[in-house]
Amino acid sequence: MDKFVINGPCTLRGAVEISGAKNAVLPLMAAALLTRGKSVIENVPNLRDVSTMMRLLGILGAEVEFEKGVITIDTTRLTSFEAPYDLVRTMRASIYVLGPLVAAHREARVSMPGGCAWGPRPIDLHLMALERLGAKITFEHGYINAAARRLKGAEVVFPISSVGATAQALMASVLAKGVTVLKNSALEPEIVELAKALRSAGAEIEGLGSSTMTVTGVETIDPFRYRVMPDRIEAGTFAAAAAATAGRVRITKCAPAHLGAVLDALKVCGAKIDIDEDNIDVQGPDRVEPVHVVTREYPGFPTDMQAQMMAVLCRAKGTSTVKDTIYPDRFTHVPELRRLAANIRLDGNLAVINGVRGLEGAPVMATDIRASSALIIGALMAKGRTEILRVYHIDRGYETIEKKLRKLGADIQRVSD
Ligand code: UD1
Repeated sequence: MDKFVINGPCTLRGAVEISGAKNAVLPLMAAALLTRGKSVIENVPNLRDVSTMMRLLGILGAEVEFEKGVITIDTTRLTSFEAPYDLVRTMRASIYVLGPLVAAHREARVSMPGGCAWGPRPIDLHLMALERLGAKITFEHGYINAAARRLKGAEVVFPISSVGATAQALMASVLAKGVTVLKNSALEPEIVELAKALRSAGAEIEGLGSSTMTVTGVETIDPFRYRVMPDRIEAGTFAAAAAATAGRVRITKCAPAHLGAVLDALKVCGAKIDIDEDNIDVQGPDRVEPVHVVTREYPGFPTDMQAQMMAVLCRAKGTSTVKDTIYPDRFTHVPELRRLAANIRLDGNLAVINGVRGLEGAPVMATDIRASSALIIGALMAKGRTEILRVYHIDRGYETIEKKLRKLGADIQRVSD
C-alpha cells in the first residue's frame, strides 16, 4: 500500500491543470450500455474509480480501451448483466449500470453496495425511480434484480435531491416508452453533462439544468462521442490548498462557473480570486479569516469540498463552523486533522473549528477521497513531516495529485511499502 510523505510547511506557487470530472465520467461510462456499438469518452482522468468501472464493463462483456485520456467502450457483444459484489463494494457508483442494463437489455443484477465510511448512503431512490418506470425489483442473496419487458415513461418525484438517483432515472428513461417527468431532479453539473451526452446520442431530454426534466423515450440511442467537463472538485481542492498555504496558484482548464459557492467561501477567508472562462487565479491570505459553511445541493457549497474547507480553516484567525446537511456523518477527517494539532469539536453534523497558529506534521490515515485531500492540505500547512497512509483513497479521485503538487513546489513523495 502506498503512502504520501509530505514535509511542510510550504507555499504553493505556479500553475496546475485540471483533469476531467470523475463524477461525470462514471455515469457516462454506464450510459454506454444503453447503446450498441462503440462510444468514445474524451478527457477521462486516469483514476482508480475509472479503472473499476472499466473492469465492471469488461465483466459485462464490453470491450473497453483507455489510452491517453480517451476511453472507447464497445458494447456490441454483452455477455452478462451482473455487477458482482467484489467490484460494487469498492465503488458505489457501480450501481449506475442497473438502469441502463434493465432499460436496454430488460434485466440486470447488481450487488447491493453495502455501507461506506460515512453514513448509510442508501439507494432507495434509485430503486423507487426504476420501479416507477415499470421495473420489477427483487432482492436475493445480497443482489438487486431488476427486470422489465420495456420500461414505461412515468412521473418520478424525488423526495430529496439525489445526484445518483437522478442520473439513474435519466439513463433508464431515455429508452422507456412514452414521456417521463423527473421532478426535484438534481441540478449538479454532472447531471447536465450526462443529459447533454445522452442528447448527443439521440435521446430526447428537455429541462437541462432545471429541477424538472422531461424525457421522451426513443426506441434506441446511438453510440456517442463526448468530451467530459473538468473536475470541479479537483479545481476546488487546489483553490483551497492555495488559500491554505498563502500561495499564488493559477488553476487552468477548469470551469470556474461550477465553483461559485466554493470561491465565495474562499473569498470570505481572505483569498484574492480572479476568474476568466476557464482559469482561476487564487492568492491566499497571510492568515485565513474564519468562515461559516453549510453544505447544500448545487449550486450550494458541495459536500465534496467540506473536508478540504475544514482543513483551510484549521489555521484561521478565530472560530469557524462547517455543517454538512447532505451527509451528516461525513467527518472521518476530523480525528485525523486533530492529529495534526487542529482544534475541532464535533456537535452532530456541525464541526466547530477553532483556528490555531500552526499545525504539526504527524502520521495520519486517509479514509475516503475527500477526507484524504483535506489531510494533504493540512500536511502542506503543518510544520514537519506528515505521512498519509492508505493513499489508494486519493487515487480513486485525484489524478497524479503528488505530481501536480510537486510542480507547485510541495515537498511530497509517494512511498510504496
Ligand atoms: C454523488 C457523488 C458524491 C457526492 C454526492 C453529493 C458520484 C459518483 N458521487 O453521490 O461524490 O458527495 O453526490 O453531492 O457522483 N440518498 C437517499 N437515497 C438514495 C440516494 C441518496 O436517501 O437512494 C440521500 C443520501 O444519503 C444523501 C443525499 O441523498 O443524503 C444526496 O446523495 P446523492 O446526491 O445521491 O449522492 P451520490 O449520488 O451517492
